[in-house]
Amino acid sequence: MIGLKDKYKDYFNIGAAVNCETVKADKDIIINNFNNITCENQMKFGVLYKEDETYDYSHADELYTFAKENGIRMRGHNFVWHNQTPFHIFKKSKEEVAEILKNHMICMNERYGDVVDCWDVINEGVEDKSSEFLRKSPWMDKFGDDYCKFVFKLAKDVLPSKVQLFYNDYNEYIPEKREKIITLIKHINAEEKLVDGIGMQCHVNLYYPTIDLVREAIELYASLGLRIHITEMDLSYFKFDDKQVLTKPDMRLQEMHAKVYGDYFALFREYKDYIDNVTLWGVSDRYTWLDYFPVENRKNWPLLFDTDGNPKESYYRVIDF
Ligand code: GLA
Repeated sequence: MIGLKDKYKDYFNIGAAVNCETVKADKDIIINNFNNITCENQMKFGVLYKEDETYDYSHADELYTFAKENGIRMRGHNFVWHNQTPFHIFKKSKEEVAEILKNHMICMNERYGDVVDCWDVINEGVEDKSSEFLRKSPWMDKFGDDYCKFVFKLAKDVLPSKVQLFYNDYNEYIPEKREKIITLIKHINAEEKLVDGIGMQCHVNLYYPTIDLVREAIELYASLGLRIHITEMDLSYFKFDDKQVLTKPDMRLQEMHAKVYGDYFALFREYKDYIDNVTLWGVSDRYTWLDYFPVENRKNWPLLFDTDGNPKESYYRVIDF
């Protein structure tokens, strides 16, 4: 059976989010199918930098070693986010926080730069609600309303030019949020190009969004001269506000899952000149964050490999072209 990465070698890299358990449980699936990985949590600033002001790189190191040993590249995820960030640093002055962030960027590049090609510099900076433009964040409280540009400039100054800098967000296909993301990126890039690419997270479900909305978003982002990475794709069986539980999806739903996955990848293939990477947010249905969100302990099956690690019909539809 051909691996995803080989089937897609003339299109884009194929990635998966991993953690220290999934690289063991799903090792062969990863090696055969993915040429790129993202640490699910292990490279996030708040996970690395502890309250006692020490850094713990052990889990990030483990995943980096796995990538290196298997010839797999990595996406760096992420530097600045309102979540999973070291909140304890914000009692320090603006200058001190800037220095800590700068040193963190330099250090991450020194440790992992030989396999990490890009970083999500800002994750989820834009607000979903219509009333606000930027999302509340301790980073904004510290550095002011223009913190996104400040952080991208910092990354640009301290990282080698070969490292691509990304802005990453979800609901990135919803027109209102999409327009805000575009306004933000245009503003950051106004004087010099700091943002190289957009990370379209693509946490989608069987019913929403439409492929046309995603197509429109891809076209608009590409028109800004940005590279595109699909960074966190998973295809949930449930609408976002649906609380129902399923023991197992029936054949009709499984068929829908396969069809929708096939449609998404066909769309991505059409835009291969702009898309460099398509990353799934997990490896197999053995483990997915969607088992815990938005409904705690409800099984979901959003990926291409099943709970036993076998390829699903959705997988076959993705390689059927
Ligand atoms: C967001 C973040 C990811 C991850 C997911 C949930 O999309 O960007 O790092 O935390 O939420 O797993």
